[in-house]
Amino acid sequence: MAKHVVTLIPGDGIGPEITTAMRRVVDATGVDIEWEIADAGEHVMAEYGTPLPEHVIEACRRNKVAIKGPVTTPVGTGFRSVNVALRKELDLYVNLRPAFSIPGTGARYEDVDIVIVRENTEDLYAGIEFEEGAPETAELIRFCAEKGVGTIRPDSGISLKPISITGSERIVRYAFEYALANGRKKVTAVHKANILKYSDGLYLDVARKVAAEYEGRVEFEDRIVDMTCMGLVLYPEQFDVVVLPNLYGDIVSDLAAGLIGGLGMAPGANIGAECAVFEPVHGSAPKYAGKDMANPTAEILTAVLMLKHLGEFDAAEKILAGVKTVLAEGVSVTYDIKRTNTGSTDGAVGTQAYADAIIATF
Ligand code: NAI
Repeated sequence: MAKHVVTLIPGDGIGPEITTAMRRVVDATGVDIEWEIADAGEHVMAEYGTPLPEHVIEACRRNKVAIKGPVTTPVGTGFRSVNVALRKELDLYVNLRPAFSIPGTGARYEDVDIVIVRENTEDLYAGIEFEEGAPETAELIRFCAEKGVGTIRPDSGISLKPISITGSERIVRYAFEYALANGRKKVTAVHKANILKYSDGLYLDVARKVAAEYEGRVEFEDRIVDMTCMGLVLYPEQFDVVVLPNLYGDIVSDLAAGLIGGLGMAPGANIGAECAVFEPVHGSAPKYAGKDMANPTAEILTAVLMLKHLGEFDAAEKILAGVKTVLAEGVSVTYDIKRTNTGSTDGAVGTQAYADAIIATF
């Protein structure tokens, strides 16, 4: 029996290609992993009537570690996002998104080393919405008016933003524990508490209380989300571990990906008390599907996070060193990196050839 059994969800669009590249690179390190393939996404809808069949969730629960490619969420069809559903079902409350510079990507900055810790289960992503014109929306509008909470225009759609003490406490605590375990110096809690007093205000209060327990061990600061965005662009080196509620975390982690060369570079992990599901920040990039063009770096760096989680530090280091070598050489790189470095895609290699170049460094 293999040392580790990992659920592999290839996903939609470029997912199958980039996860194949990732798997080949991981296998080439010699690490003993059995991959249990579980299909989810738009392409399984016809067969199972759902993009996330129960057996896929079960496989993640059983193996405790899964890695996935991106999954397509068609806009405005009422089709629930597989990613959001998986995070909810498995209570993966942490979305960890490290953004670190690797020379050779053509990124605008060279010294970024930020870890974004995004809350993954509540906030505006809780999925509690009231459709414009629906009777329950009218009732909510009436309730707010009658109770003196506030006036809402009758032709409004409404999305709720629940932020709990429980959700805030565990995510901020995770950020501090991560900082301690990884030799990080500072945690920045991001919010808009000056405007959103009862949701972000609560989050900030909880963050301050948790921070007090780590005083003297990890530095703490809080920042308003708009100032954070400006600060990240002006002085990214001022940030270390950044902890945010769900929506700000989603936006700021893409911003951070931009600092290090774009979505093709940004790895991620969804972590809960029981299981972890590793996935890159980017989506399924349908226009590149099946063309052997997509950049698999984010998926491969996602596997590096997974290998560390499994305690396979040598394999993780080997892959990271291989990625750094290939990017620094700038020869066998995918179209997006070639374009940022030279202004043209001439001489770019495909997804699998890039993986081969990494493997050749081992
Ligand atoms: P996207 O991330 O797929 O694409 C944004 C842009 O980045 C596009 O120009 C795309 O071609 C490019 N890009 C993304 N990944 C790349 C890679 N590895 N190599 C080279 N170029 C890359 O975001 P978009 O277009 O908003 O979403 C497409 C689909 O993906 C949607 O259905 C969305 O719901 C889904 N999605 C899934 C995620 C997941 O499974 N975790 C996360 C984000 C989006």
